[in-house]
Amino acid sequence: MKLALYSGTFDPITKGHIEIIKRASKMCDKLVVAVLNNSSKKTLFTLEERKEMVETVLKDIKNIEVIEYTGLLANYMKEIDCKYIIRGLRAVIDYEYELSLAYGNYDISEGEIETVFIPSSKEYLYVSSSIVRELALYNGKLDNYLDDYVIKKIKKRFEE
Ligand code: COA
Repeated sequence: MKLALYSGTFDPITKGHIEIIKRASKMCDKLVVAVLNNSSKKTLFTLEERKEMVETVLKDIKNIEVIEYTGLLANYMKEIDCKYIIRGLRAVIDYEYELSLAYGNYDISEGEIETVFIPSSKEYLYVSSSIVRELALYNGKLDNYLDDYVIKKIKKRFEE
């Protein structure tokens, strides 16, 4: 693939996301990492804060561009002429939701956008941003799940 896109809310980005991004970046010439708003989620970090954390933890991967976007993902992808969305698949619980996003994007784009799934590695099967937010709130151990930079940010957010 020449150009592909990995999207998410990243509230915050976890090591599970980073693992998928590293693998996806090897499958294409350039990977756009799109930090989006999911209208059904109230986030701990603003869109700008989430993008800044994503940029910082991915700074060593050369063929990546991080962007933020509000609106339909399919519209943005049309703007940049990108036809492939990469998504990570964790346990079965992801399947139904991911299928609805994949078909949604396929239909909105009139069949132009395909979704490619990468299976998450076993160590991150049950990691999610809400689990790490809860761990951070109650001072749980975070280093298995989050980059050090993100740990600092999330601890600070809960002190505020
Ligand atoms: N490692 C760790 N966690 C992972 C993960 C991985 N590999 N893959 C998914 N997750 C978790 C996330 O942390 C998140 O956890 P949370 O719900 O506890 O916060 C959850 O899985 C889902 O996250 P994400 O992949 O970020 O998806 P999302 O549902 O938050 O966001 C958008 C989906 C933003 C990409 C989608 O809503 C979108 O494209 N919105 C734009 C509007 C649009 O185009 N809508 C039409 C779609 S058809």
